[in-house]
Amino acid sequence: MNFLKKALTVSAIAAASIVSMNAAYAEEVKIGFIVKQPEEPWFQEEWKFADKAAAEMGFTLVKIGAVDGEKLMSAIDNLGVQGVQGFIVCTPDVKLGPGMVAKAAANGMKMMTVDDRLVDASGEAIESVPHMGISAAKIGEAVGQAISDEVKARGWDLAEVGAIRVSYDQLPTAVDRVEGAITALKANGFPEANIFDAPQVKTDTEAALNAATTVLNSHPEIKHWVAFGLNDEAVLGAVRATESVGIAADNVIGVGIGGSDSAISEFQKPDPTGFIGSVIISPKRHGYETAMNMFEWVANGKEPESLILTSGSLATRETYVDVRKDLGIE
Ligand code: GLA
Repeated sequence: MNFLKKALTVSAIAAASIVSMNAAYAEEVKIGFIVKQPEEPWFQEEWKFADKAAAEMGFTLVKIGAVDGEKLMSAIDNLGVQGVQGFIVCTPDVKLGPGMVAKAAANGMKMMTVDDRLVDASGEAIESVPHMGISAAKIGEAVGQAISDEVKARGWDLAEVGAIRVSYDQLPTAVDRVEGAITALKANGFPEANIFDAPQVKTDTEAALNAATTVLNSHPEIKHWVAFGLNDEAVLGAVRATESVGIAADNVIGVGIGGSDSAISEFQKPDPTGFIGSVIISPKRHGYETAMNMFEWVANGKEPESLILTSGSLATRETYVDVRKDLGIE
């Protein structure tokens, strides 16, 4: 009798602890979100929308900035130690792909990439890691078309126009974006010989300013300038370079990609600058949706689609408020 009572009590405790373990598991989903450039407004917005997903679903979001490979690798270990089950990452170096896959697996974590897709040793995309990125070539073409339309509107003679290709060729999405812009420029008659490469050492405004200044100083024969690049920061750097060498805003046409704060503050300046537009992409989709995808994967075993490509919409200082509203990112 005593024995039976004891056995029943023990199994009741066991059953109760299984129930409470399940409840604890549901409450304790932890998702990491690592970005390569935490000070860049695009990544701030991505985090903001990921936070929204966390608040809605009740999971914990652990945000870490990792500006180089070493910081990235220790960030992944750090997430593992904190009991994170899965993370989203925009890596500072896509070539770290195989090492990242191994490190995520060693920590028993699921991994999804955002913005910059991992490559293997031969430079091919690692397709086994789910990825959300922008339709880079198409968005680049939209940039090139917007520049060409403005060149026509200003009645410039194409022989007197130079193009600054602010480049970061170690990043495939950066190459696709600028090559897309060049395709559209050439389709509109832009002379290839007038396109000058301005390689940036980092993907920020200062690095782009330095790279573009070198191009401007080497081509005093050019009368008007256009500029395009990986993102708003790249194009803003080129525009700042034209200003610093004394080229007037009405001789400059820059169109960026992003549409976050960097572009918006430029549009809000009382006097228009050479930065005339940006193809707005969606930090909401990249932040909120990837976080939701990871939550579904961790909590319900539903793996995200292997490749999700998002689109963009051109905005100018006249239209950006409406375009952002339409995209749900005001
Ligand atoms: C890259 C760029 C960012 C942003 C994202 C968008 O990561 O560095 O500025 O444009 O792509 O996917």
